[in-house]
Amino acid sequence: MTDSTAAHPNTAKSLTIGVFDSGFGGLTVLRALLPLIPHAHYLFLGDTARLPYGSKSRETVARYAVSSAKFLHEQGADLLVIACNTATALALPDIQQALPIPVIGVVEPGAHAALATSSFPASNIPDGPNQVLVLATQATVQSHAYTHALSALGLEASEKACPLLVPLVEEGWTNHPVTDEVLKIYLTEALAAAPATQTLLLGCTHYPLIEPAIHRILDAIGHPLTIIDSADATARATATLVAHHFPNLTPTAKPTCIFYATDSIEKFQRLGSNFLGQPVTEVNLVDLGG
Ligand code: DGL
Repeated sequence: MTDSTAAHPNTAKSLTIGVFDSGFGGLTVLRALLPLIPHAHYLFLGDTARLPYGSKSRETVARYAVSSAKFLHEQGADLLVIACNTATALALPDIQQALPIPVIGVVEPGAHAALATSSFPASNIPDGPNQVLVLATQATVQSHAYTHALSALGLEASEKACPLLVPLVEEGWTNHPVTDEVLKIYLTEALAAAPATQTLLLGCTHYPLIEPAIHRILDAIGHPLTIIDSADATARATATLVAHHFPNLTPTAKPTCIFYATDSIEKFQRLGSNFLGQPVTEVNLVDLGG
């Protein structure tokens, strides 16, 4: 269940969607939302000062995620997209309880995207299940949120924690020999443990930025896979939620975006533009405490 509010269509004529991640990764979700829901205002928060979430305890992730979510609600968000697998896996119920608006995370849409691209649900395969390999942060893997979501859909999951990938992506090393080498180690280990893998699910919103490198390494180690991420699926699920809760919106010419970061504005503008695929302007520095 991703929607925390009862079905009561809102009569608001304009819609503000809050989107947050610990860093830049959530911009890959915003990038998918913009063309699908163009008649909205967007508020994006990158909690860059407290990144990474993925190496922290559940209590700390929940505290950071709830404060990030509350900040966006205070700025006027009518609906919240948790564009972070770690925050979704560890704190979705906490965020839903803390906010009186619809809240959607990335794990369930990601699991459904895996089902849609997996040709054979496990139950239909006589000679072995179609395994989905999930690459994610340490905290997401420890929560087993993806194992639960995938097994509820009849898919077998194996999970691999990749703690070095978020810092490499945040450094902008998306096409770099060090990143390739790290990926080679992670993927070789993961596939040795789960050789029946046919689908690779990117269980961290930072990883779509290194998808070309992942394809390259999979080809090099002789195990090409279908790669999926939850950004498009989350955007589609959000569009369904919007149609349900806000049916009377007046279309606007162009979506507008305001960005907030809890650390360096300059870095956010520079790297964020790469992640979003369009210039990131109007970044505001905010202090959400520790
Ligand atoms: N982008 C976040 C995710 O999807 C993780 C980044 C972090 O570790 O803070 O899990």
